[in-house]
Amino acid sequence: MRFSVEVIGLLTCFLSQAIAAPGKRDLTSFTAAERAIALQGALNNIGPDGVKVPGAGAGFVVASPSKVNPDYFYTWTRDSALTLKMLIDEFIFGNTALQSYIDDYIHAQAKLQTVSNPSGTFLPAGLGLGEPKFQVDGTRFNGAWGRPQRDGPALRAIALMTYSNWLIKNGNSTAAKTIIWPIIANDLSYVGEYWNQTGFDLWEETLGSSYFTIQNQARALIEGAQLAHDLGVTCPGCVQAPEVLCFLQSFWNGEFIVSNINIDNGRTGIDGNSILGPIAIFDIDAYCDSPTMQPCHSNNLANFKVLIDTFRATYAINDGIPEGQGVAVGRYAEDVYMGGNPWYLITTAAAEFLYDAVAQWKARHVLIVDSTSLAFFQDIYPSVTVRQYNSGNANSPFAQIMDAVTAYADSFVAVAEKYIPSNGSLAEQFNRTTGVPLSANDLTWSYAAFVTMAQRRAGQYPASWGSRNAIAPPATCAGTSTTGVYVPAIAAGAPNVTSTCQVNVIFDVNATTYYGENLYVIGDTDDLGVWDVSNSLPMGAGGYTSERPLWSVSAYLNAGEEVNYKYVRQEDCNQPYIYETVNRTLTVPACGSAAITTNDAWDGPVGTSGNCGS
Ligand code: NOJ
Ligand code: NOJ
Repeated sequence: MRFSVEVIGLLTCFLSQAIAAPGKRDLTSFTAAERAIALQGALNNIGPDGVKVPGAGAGFVVASPSKVNPDYFYTWTRDSALTLKMLIDEFIFGNTALQSYIDDYIHAQAKLQTVSNPSGTFLPAGLGLGEPKFQVDGTRFNGAWGRPQRDGPALRAIALMTYSNWLIKNGNSTAAKTIIWPIIANDLSYVGEYWNQTGFDLWEETLGSSYFTIQNQARALIEGAQLAHDLGVTCPGCVQAPEVLCFLQSFWNGEFIVSNINIDNGRTGIDGNSILGPIAIFDIDAYCDSPTMQPCHSNNLANFKVLIDTFRATYAINDGIPEGQGVAVGRYAEDVYMGGNPWYLITTAAAEFLYDAVAQWKARHVLIVDSTSLAFFQDIYPSVTVRQYNSGNANSPFAQIMDAVTAYADSFVAVAEKYIPSNGSLAEQFNRTTGVPLSANDLTWSYAAFVTMAQRRAGQYPASWGSRNAIAPPATCAGTSTTGVYVPAIAAGAPNVTSTCQVNVIFDVNATTYYGENLYVIGDTDDLGVWDVSNSLPMGAGGYTSERPLWSVSAYLNAGEEVNYKYVRQEDCNQPYIYETVNRTLTVPACGSAAITTNDAWDGPVGTSGNCGS
């Protein structure tokens, strides 16, 4: 009797494997092939040798080769750091050819930290570190933008700390301490000083507090405290970690994670932000109830279901896909950018999130289903109940739930596969109705996201970053701050900027304009775009009245410097720019002087509307 039960069990097991195997093998070979394409796709977008981005400086990661509609030919601190985190993990997993990309990135970022920009200067208070994007040669970008974005310094610190920990393990603490730590220290100073101030979210649209940002800031400070200890240096800002963790808990509304708070933007707050955060702070050693909010945390699982069901109901290409099966996932349901479509990087992130959670339960040998996470599990394992499941043999409920979550993860990869063109290239989005790729082509972040998902699917996990060292958040949160210490990372190649003494120059010009016409200041310094109109300073018409047609912009220019400048009109209907005929000069006053105002009047030809409608 016992014998035959075992035989039947074996037979069933054999049969189900025989049936399941072909599909699974397909997804595995697809993932392996696409992973290689994706890795190369990311490298193609990194200067100086990336074949798709001529002109990019060494170590600068270009977001996409696309220069129009949208123009992504810039380097974003966020995209770059997430890409380097992927490359550093690949390097640690054995791809030693990636070393030079890491070295180039270190040097590029050391310099970039010191570049004055519209978010501010590096010295004395680190404000420039909050700038989201730069030109691909590492010079400043002057255009209007959602700034500051405070996730960048945290993400960069995380990438560099991963590499530093590897260096320490491999007997090179000296390089970690003398070359890389000074860059990390600036970024951690920024986090410790400004975490409690609002900034733009990762989608660059919303000024408030963002789950993704706060979560990465918490990780950066927790990990930073440990690394500082290991290197025998100090991290003053790292004492903020428990307060940041405290704040992180407040994004949960009892049903889902409200991704953007301290803002009223008319959205539900259900946002892919809330899965990108957890996968970025994934720690294979973490406990699921860690306040760092790991993928296997019950709140994140409940949120995952709400988020995925939202997109299930939003995009036509998801029509008819039942609960518990993967769908195409985008930023948030109310999104209209480029038509508001699913994104490759968020669809693969959904899979990565689930692989992460499975890895954590398996590593702990236990799964606790509570009333918060129950609905998530019911979709994929209907007989689930609120209880503790201990790991057991292959037929145990624990193992079956692990298989069910893994199959759920695979189903998101299968959705991605369906909409990835046969050459394997990854754009930013794919059409919500037709599935056709659109927006930026060869998006570096899409490629990086595919690789990190493929790592997890293949059972490759970065070493623990020490989430267990987190000091528990206090019972009552406080918006504290530690004043940062900002020093150029000279050993890594930063210029020895001393205090960047700048003086406030207010460019005021009277210029009568028609509705739809815009004004810019352009000049011969980096601050004014070096005569490149696409990088000139946008002016505002907030003070424009019928009595005085005032256009104005406040800039900070280097004390004592002589500047050549003029104003330029941007016409509607794709008509050419119109420049002033006069050449203007001003000498920025000495360090410490009060603000000066130009009080100019437009001198040159004027424009007329092309009347192209809209
Ligand atoms: C460009 C940003 O990068 C993108 O995230 C945003 O949706 C659009 N601007 C529209 O604001
Ligand atoms: C728009 C995205 O919203 C933003 O997150 C990203 O940094 C830029 N594009 C560049 O890829």
